[in-house]
Amino acid sequence: MRIGVIGTGTIAGAVVRGIAGDGHQITVSERSAAVSAELAGAFDTVSVAPNQTVLEQSDVIFLGLMAEAAPSILAPLVFRADQQVISFMAGIDPEQLQALVAPAQAAAVMMPFPGIARGGSAIMALGDIDLVKAIFGARNTVFALSDTAELDAYICAQAVLSPVARMVGDAADWLGTRVSDPAQGEAFLRMLVASSLADTGCTDLIEALNTPGGYNQRLRQHMEAAGQTGDLRSGLDGLLR
Ligand SMILES: NC(=O)c1ccc[n+]([C@@H]2O[C@H](COP(=O)([O-])OP(=O)(O)OC[C@H]3O[C@@H](n4cnc5c(N)ncnc54)[C@H](OP(=O)(O)O)[C@@H]3O)[C@@H](O)[C@H]2O)c1
Repeated sequence: MRIGVIGTGTIAGAVVRGIAGDGHQITVSERSAAVSAELAGAFDTVSVAPNQTVLEQSDVIFLGLMAEAAPSILAPLVFRADQQVISFMAGIDPEQLQALVAPAQAAAVMMPFPGIARGGSAIMALGDIDLVKAIFGARNTVFALSDTAELDAYICAQAVLSPVARMVGDAADWLGTRVSDPAQGEAFLRMLVASSLADTGCTDLIEALNTPGGYNQRLRQHMEAAGQTGDLRSGLDGLLR
């Protein structure tokens, strides 16, 4: 495919790294000079151009702009009716996207994570799932959403990642003051949590770790009694509001 990227920042840079070896012709916007130059230097399938040239050289366009900046950046650009646009921008729904990129087709709103650069990443997407899978599905898992209400809920719920990292990090700090190799301690905890949840559903994992009086049961019950579950739900409700 001929793929263009407008807004080549943190997430779009990771996306490009993830697909740069797949034979696409990729043109990235010259703005975000450091990321764009690094991508073009690393991959001979990637070139750098001004925004309008990016569009002229591409059939599928990725938008990695900040949502609040997108209208003024996209307004002067001319899209073609035969182009398909995939947005990574949180806060812009498919209807708003369509208005920003007409006469091109707003094909999908997709939320990638930085891990997409190396594959094995979870991707949530609303819209043309076949197109998203055709580009990213070989090395990642695409989770199809049915409407904007689902997209909003998923965007809120995915924010559990940061508190989970905080919790694992706090446990690693606690462990690090008691062992000879703190880095190994953190690596152990990260692998334990990631691999356990990759293999097993949450309810099944909690049940498997529910030995009466065992360490896992006692710490979970301590955290629940401290209000952790209620805090999480009210935090998610707050995000959705
Ligand atoms: N970061 C994530 O993990 C993540 C995950 C999913 C979705 N998203 C969404 O992706 C979007 C970008 O997030 P990000 O974290 O990647 O932010 P970011 O690193 O700030 O990327 C935004 C990019 O837009 C560029 N830009 C600004 N003005 C431009 C213009 N006139 N023409 C072309 N490019 C321009 C910026 O370039 P300069 O650096 O030169 O200003 C910057 O590189 C956001 O809407 C966010 O919600 C992010």
